[in-house]
Amino acid sequence: MSTNKIAISTQGLVKRFGEEVLAVNNIDLSIPTNTIYALLGPNGAGKTTTVSMLTTMIEPTSGSAKVSGLDIVLQADKVRQRIGVTFQEIVLDPDLTGRETLDFHARLYSIGKAERLAKIDKLLKLVELDEAANRRTNTYSGGMKRRLELARGLITNPEVLFLDEPTQGLDLQNRANIWEYIRTLKTNTNLTLLLTTHYMEEAEALADRVGIMDHGEIMVEGSPRELIDQMGADNIRIIGQGNPDLFCEAAQTLPFVESVNKSDGIIQIGVDSGNRRLVEIIGTANTSGFEIEDISVSKPSLGDVFLKYTGRQLRDK
Ligand SMILES: Nc1ncnc2c1ncn2[C@@H]1O[C@H](COP(=O)(O)OP(=O)(O)OP(=O)(O)O)[C@@H](O)[C@H]1O
Ligand SMILES: [Mg+2]
Repeated sequence: MSTNKIAISTQGLVKRFGEEVLAVNNIDLSIPTNTIYALLGPNGAGKTTTVSMLTTMIEPTSGSAKVSGLDIVLQADKVRQRIGVTFQEIVLDPDLTGRETLDFHARLYSIGKAERLAKIDKLLKLVELDEAANRRTNTYSGGMKRRLELARGLITNPEVLFLDEPTQGLDLQNRANIWEYIRTLKTNTNLTLLLTTHYMEEAEALADRVGIMDHGEIMVEGSPRELIDQMGADNIRIIGQGNPDLFCEAAQTLPFVESVNKSDGIIQIGVDSGNRRLVEIIGTANTSGFEIEDISVSKPSLGDVFLKYTGRQLRDK
């Protein structure tokens, strides 16, 4: 089992739709085997378009990419044999049972009967649908449907699994369950997973590496810990009136301040220890003529990192 092999790589990958839309703008990825990589970004960031190219559904406008060492354009057929994919929209036939859904998919890939039956039983157990296996999927809850799709994505023993918004529309409990399956998969196999999400908690909870995506670009990349740590130990968020520039400049010179960032009307100050520094920060605002209307201290999150690099807040739809 090789751990330092690269499972997914892209070089200057671009996708345009017509003249107007630059959906994916020159992204370079290098994702090692047995990694959970999350593309985190808001609606329209280009996440699905990236997955569509990597899964050979659409061709790039320029640039290139390899999945499992195979070129996504020149060796598209071979790439398809090595990957699994689940789509953002649930695409299940409502009239098939859970078991029939998996069986149909396995037949599509010409998996022999004995292997098919064994595989389907194993996967149904893995996603805890064995008891509901003979019910039609139109009786399934949202979480059950997502789990069935996950099982379907795994039927072909993929080396790389692409999950486009695997928990979209699910409640927190269901989401946490899916996270657990995904983690188990990574631990028990040599699988590489690329998932997209606009939930920062999802990226934080699951991913070994996160690429923050906005307007078709990867703005910053790293492990959730690395990304969060560069914000400082604590994050002071401030909203107020007056000229923020003078205040930010003054704050920057304070010895305990690790980062200062101003975007979307919010000032974020990374400090070594939030509560002990509040008084001094408020004092600095006063002497800079900035009137604080709201101030809070918290541990930084990927949402704060997102704000820093994109100038916008990551809002769940
Ligand atoms: N087939 C298409 N034709 C034209 N424009 C498209 C097409 N597919 C996507 N786009 C545009 O490309 C951009 C990126 O879309 P994409 O679906 O990749 O975003 P996303 O990050 O997956 O968003 P979401 O979180 O809503 O799923 C958007 O501006 C979208 O409108
Ligand atoms: Mg999408």
